[in-house]
Amino acid sequence: MKTKALYPGSFDPLTMGHLNIIRRAAKLYDELTIGVVSNPSKASMFTLEEREEMLKDALRDLPNVKVDHFSGLLADYVNRMGFDVVVRGLRATTDFEYEIQMAQMNARLFNESVETVFLMTDPQYSFISSSVVKEVHTLGGCIDGLVPDEILKRMVK
Ligand code: PNS
Repeated sequence: MKTKALYPGSFDPLTMGHLNIIRRAAKLYDELTIGVVSNPSKASMFTLEEREEMLKDALRDLPNVKVDHFSGLLADYVNRMGFDVVVRGLRATTDFEYEIQMAQMNARLFNESVETVFLMTDPQYSFISSSVVKEVHTLGGCIDGLVPDEILKRMVK
């Protein structure tokens, strides 16, 4: 049976850290869906449509990866779509506190067989987050190599 994995997140914007997790997860599972969260009450740099478009562009070479979006509870989306695994990336101990809370809460809400699986971020990307990249760029700092080139072009626009 095929294992269907989901990598959920805001991806505002997609970073090299996300890409690293996606490429590694795509090797581990038969099908990987990138689930972009739609949260209209949260201010974002890019719209949901732009975030999905940027992901599709960046992941064109990965045949078993597709891009989708969801709103509301992650667990409802996971149960409805029949995912087996939810992938999250872990950078540092600071991520761990938030992630364990989310994983344990979701474990109560997921269908019985669904697991959250953590991949350790490659050390070269451990300091990167969408928010730090946005802040540095907005204040005029260089973020070359921290997001895909196409995304940097859109951020400059
Ligand atoms: O990239 P992010 O912002 O760290 O992703 C967080 C995300 C989207 C996975 C998380 O906020 C989420 O699952 N949101 C959907 C709402 C939800 O299910 N909340 C309860 C989590 S226990």
